[in-house]
Amino acid sequence: MQAWFQILGLALLIPLSWAQDQQTVEPTSFNATEALLEQGIDLSLLEQANLNLTARGESAHPTCPLMCKTLALTFNAQTYQQGSSQYESFRASYWSVQQASVEPQCVFEPTSAQQLSVAILLSRLTQCQWAAKSGGHAAFASASSIEDGVSISLAKFNQINIAKDKQTVDVGTGNKWQAVYEKVEQSGLVVLGGRDGDIGVGGLTTGGGISLFSGQYGWVCDNVVSFTVVTAWGLIVEASATSNPDLYWALRGGGNNFGLVTNFKFRAFPMGKIWGGAVGWLPDAFPALIKAFYNLGKNSETDPKAATILSFSATGSALGNIAQTLLSYSLPQVVPPILAEFAAVPNAIYNTTSIRSISNYSEGFATWPAGSRDEIWTHTSVMNVDFMTWLQETFFDIGGRVQSETSGVRPSLSFQSITKAGIQKMSQNSRNPLGLIDDLASAPLLMMSQAWIWTDAQYDATVIGAMREFQQKTEAKAVEMGIHVDYRYMNYANEYQDVIASYGQDNKRKLKEIAAKYDPTAVFQRLQPGYFKLDGAPIDTGSYFDATS
Ligand SMILES: Cc1cc2nc3c(=O)[nH]c(=O)nc-3n(C[C@H](O)[C@H](O)[C@H](O)COP(=O)(O)OP(=O)(O)OC[C@H]3O[C@@H](n4cnc5c(N)ncnc54)[C@H](O)[C@@H]3O)c2cc1C
Ligand SMILES: *[C@@H]1O[C@H](CO)[C@@H](O)[C@H](O)[C@H]1NC(C)=O
Ligand SMILES: *[C@@H]1O[C@H](CO)[C@@H](O)[C@H](O)[C@H]1NC(C)=O
Ligand SMILES: *[C@@H]1O[C@H](CO)[C@@H](O)[C@H](O)[C@H]1NC(C)=O
Ligand SMILES: *[C@@H]1O[C@H](CO)[C@@H](O)[C@H](O)[C@H]1NC(C)=O
Repeated sequence: MQAWFQILGLALLIPLSWAQDQQTVEPTSFNATEALLEQGIDLSLLEQANLNLTARGESAHPTCPLMCKTLALTFNAQTYQQGSSQYESFRASYWSVQQASVEPQCVFEPTSAQQLSVAILLSRLTQCQWAAKSGGHAAFASASSIEDGVSISLAKFNQINIAKDKQTVDVGTGNKWQAVYEKVEQSGLVVLGGRDGDIGVGGLTTGGGISLFSGQYGWVCDNVVSFTVVTAWGLIVEASATSNPDLYWALRGGGNNFGLVTNFKFRAFPMGKIWGGAVGWLPDAFPALIKAFYNLGKNSETDPKAATILSFSATGSALGNIAQTLLSYSLPQVVPPILAEFAAVPNAIYNTTSIRSISNYSEGFATWPAGSRDEIWTHTSVMNVDFMTWLQETFFDIGGRVQSETSGVRPSLSFQSITKAGIQKMSQNSRNPLGLIDDLASAPLLMMSQAWIWTDAQYDATVIGAMREFQQKTEAKAVEMGIHVDYRYMNYANEYQDVIASYGQDNKRKLKEIAAKYDPTAVFQRLQPGYFKLDGAPIDTGSYFDATS
């Protein structure tokens, strides 16, 4: 077995030279067997098995044990079999119970892009399906896990390297934002990323990514200078404005449909301390908070340094229903004028705002514990006070009803604004595929998300049913008011929502063309079946939940 590692050590230099010298589009004559043999991979197990792939069933993964064995033969230390402690700690590293409950045939944790490339090619030979996990914060089962398949852990891509000129930072997809902020702030820098430090870099960025600084600089994906990507034929390529620009465009919101990103080169910004924290209120403050939230969205161009999330939670405790604003301002200034309307709302029940570092903010934000059952849905509309009031009231009606029938269920509803200033920043780097630029004239937009947390599986049907009820009512109401916007944010979308269709017909068509170019045999659609694919929702029920599509 050691011999294989030695051979591999030499042979693995091959893909890098391909990247420089050869085309990045997969040739029609590409033969995965030959590519693997060239890299010195022992395919004897596969040959002995005399695979009959046409006999493969639809739902089972009969060839995955063979893929796991071949991975173990080649990369023994990186392949975790069922029953091993590494396998179990990998499963325990997901945020939601739905994902942590999934049992893959084995877990593969590559330490280099070359090893990842071998795994993708092996999946093509065996037709064994797989999923890839960065931070593991996506909520629904199969988003970054796969029952009976091969789950790929991207955790070892954990580099954080600041460029000498401090203009960019290379961040491996295996990092969580907390580690990134802690490292870069030592150099007086920040990169755009998640507000909760426990979120992974990979999923957040490839799905779009909303940061504290999105009003100033656009979304997280808009601030990627280049991606290092492993493509469907195992090539390791750079995607940037000058190298494979179509792939660069697709990766800025197109999700896991084009390749696996191992490194993100982010623009870096000088940043000192900020002002921010959480402030809580009781129901008498709700109308004033909705107004203040609306005005902040409207006025964001005058000072895009401020951001907030307004959320409503049915605590189910003696506290009852509460609202919380997560306020932030990207200078160390207590209650800047743009946020004064919030400070004027009386009777806050708690207030943790202070002048703090980004890493202190992102650590304090991480209040949603792992280990629960979680479900999230998203909706976008034009920002409107009457609609937000209706949403808040309807949500507490449904949430209260469910709480009276169950225990340990915590429904929450959040409002964020997609501001004019933020959308304008999406036109940098020849735009992203999200399609929001077409809605600029209607901005600010309201992005609603409902996130429910519960612990007892016996309430699954009740909670999921109530969430759908609220979602359907929301979409019908928005359509009735003429303010529905056909955009579904990937990072908050439910498995019943079709995300890519909501980017608009042109963007979807372009994304499919780019996928066909870099992945002509649809590896990322067929062999990596989880999450938001190019055609349809993860669980396709037609257009039932998307009122206007
Ligand atoms: C409490 C909480 C707070 C949140 N805060 C924010 C926030 O501030 N801003 C925001 O925008 N979103 C936020 N989100 C949503 C978050 O962006 C998504 O859950 C995101 O998918 C998490 O990324 P991950 O890497 O942790 O997830 P994972 O589950 O590991 O990955 C999600 C999907 O992305 C794919 N993927 C991951 N890495 C790569 C890669 N390198 N190349 C290709 N595909 C990849 C995976 O295969 C999977 O399909 C929050 C979510 C929660 C639950
Ligand atoms: C791919 O290469 C292998 C090994 O050389 C060969 O046996 C196989 O027939 C080739 N497959 C195709 C489709 O050409
Ligand atoms: C492969 O399996 C299919 C379906 O079971 C069968 O029809 C076919 O004859 C098999 N081919 C070989 C070469 O065994
Ligand atoms: C929160 O506390 C700060 C003092 O630290 C105060 O200035 C502010 O008005 C309070 N309320 C809000 C909504 O920020
Ligand atoms: C943030 O900083 C404050 C004050 O400096 C400290 O009390 C608090 O514990 C810190 N929070 C985190 C999560 O580090």
